[in-house]
Amino acid sequence: MSKRKILITGGAGFIGSHLVRRMVLRYEDYEIYNLDNLTYAGNLENLRDIESKANYHFIKADINDFEEVKALFDRYRFDSVIHLAAESHVDRSIEDPLAFVHTNVLGTMHLLYAARQTWKDDYTGKRFYQVSTDEVYGSLGDTGLFREDTAYDPRSPYSASKASADHFVRAYFHTYGMPVLISNCSNNYGPYQFPEKLIPLVINNILHRRTIPVYGDGSNVRDWLWVEDHAEAIDVLFHNGIEGETYNIGGNNEMQNIELVHLLCDITDEMLGRPVGDSRALITFVKDRPGHDRRYAIDASKIKDTMGWEPGTTPEVGFRKTVRWYLDNDSWLDAVTSGEYLKYYEKHYHAR
Ligand code: NAD
Ligand code: DAU
Repeated sequence: MSKRKILITGGAGFIGSHLVRRMVLRYEDYEIYNLDNLTYAGNLENLRDIESKANYHFIKADINDFEEVKALFDRYRFDSVIHLAAESHVDRSIEDPLAFVHTNVLGTMHLLYAARQTWKDDYTGKRFYQVSTDEVYGSLGDTGLFREDTAYDPRSPYSASKASADHFVRAYFHTYGMPVLISNCSNNYGPYQFPEKLIPLVINNILHRRTIPVYGDGSNVRDWLWVEDHAEAIDVLFHNGIEGETYNIGGNNEMQNIELVHLLCDITDEMLGRPVGDSRALITFVKDRPGHDRRYAIDASKIKDTMGWEPGTTPEVGFRKTVRWYLDNDSWLDAVTSGEYLKYYEKHYHAR
C-alpha cells in the first residue's frame, strides 16, 4: 500500500508547528506536507528540530491562490487535509476584516474545491479535517458551556470568518459526501505562540518592563489548553473521529484574564529573581476590545466519552513550562517582534 500523504496547512504557525512535529515524529510511515505562506505568524524556526526528517516536506504556498493549490493537489495527490492555515488574531480582524474573509473563508473553499476535484467523489481513504475555534459559538454569560449542538453566533470578523468556513466544510459533507471532520477548540497556550496573543505578549512585556495592557476590567473568561494537548486531540480525532461530526476540545481550565495575568507576573518574577509584585505594577487597564466576548467555556464530554481524550497537562505545570520556554527563548521573541510586528504594536496599542 502506498504511503499516506497528509497535507497540513498553517504548519509553520503556533498550533500547526506542534501538530506537524507530532505527526512527523509519531508516524514515520506517513508523508507530511506542511503548506504555509509564512505570514508574520508563520516561522520555520518553529520546526528546525524536525526539518531534516525524511517524511517531512515544506511547501511555501498561499491558500488564497486557487491555481497554486490545485497544482499542488495534482502533483502530490494528498489523501488527507488537516487545515489550520488562517488569520487567527481577533484584534487584527477588527482592523482588517477583509484579509480574514480572503484567507479563512476563500482559502478554505479553495482547499475543499481542489480536494473534491482531485478525489473525484471517490472518498475511500480520504479525510478533510477543519481545525476551528470555540469562538464560532459566540459569548457566554456567567453560566453554561458550549456544546457541539450550540448554535453558531460569531461576533467578531475573525469568528465570523471561521464560522463561515465551518459551514462550507459541512456543506461539502452533506452535498458532496466528502468525509469531513471539524473540531472547535478553546484558547491554546505554550511555546511558539506569536506575541500579539495575551500570554506571550504579557511575558514579553514583563521582560522589557513595558506596560501590560488588560482590556476592559480584566474579568473576561477564557478556557486555556496546553497546545501539545490540542495537537494530541487532533491526532486522535484525525484517526478515529466519525466523518461529518464535530468535536469540542477544551482545557477544563476557565480563568479571568486578570487572574491569568497576575499568575504570569508572579511566575515570571519568581523565575527572573525579581521582587514579589514587581511585574503586577506594570498592569494597565486599557480601552476594551470592541465586541469583546465575555466568556468562553467548553463542554468537552463528547471527545472524552467517545475517544477517551482529556487534557493531560495541568495548568500548574503548563503555565510554568510556558513562561520558562519564553524566558529561555527570548531570541525567538526578539526575532518575531521586529519589523512588521512593531508597526502593528504601535498602531494597535498607542491608538487606544
Ligand atoms: P497562527 O496565526 O499562529 O498560525 C497561522 C499559520 O497559517 C501561520 O503559519 C501562517 O503563515 C499561515 N497562513 C496564514 N495565511 C495563510 C495563507 N493564505 N496561506 C498559507 N498559510 C497561511 O494560528 P494558530 O493560533 O496556530 O491557529 C491555527 C488554527 O487553529 C487556526 O485555524 C485557528 O483559527 C485555530 N484555533 C486557534 C486557537 C488558538 O488558541 N490559537 C484555538 C482554536 C482554534
Ligand atoms: O478561543 C479560541 C481563540 O483564542 C482562537 O480561535 C484565536 O485564534 C486565539 O487568538 C484566541 O482568541 P482570544 O481573542 O481569546 O485570544 P487573545 O490572546 O487575543 O486574548 C485573550 C483574552 O485576553 C481576551 O479576552 C482579550 C484579552 N487581551 C488580549 C490582548 C492581546 C487583553 O486583555 N490584552 C491584550 O493585549
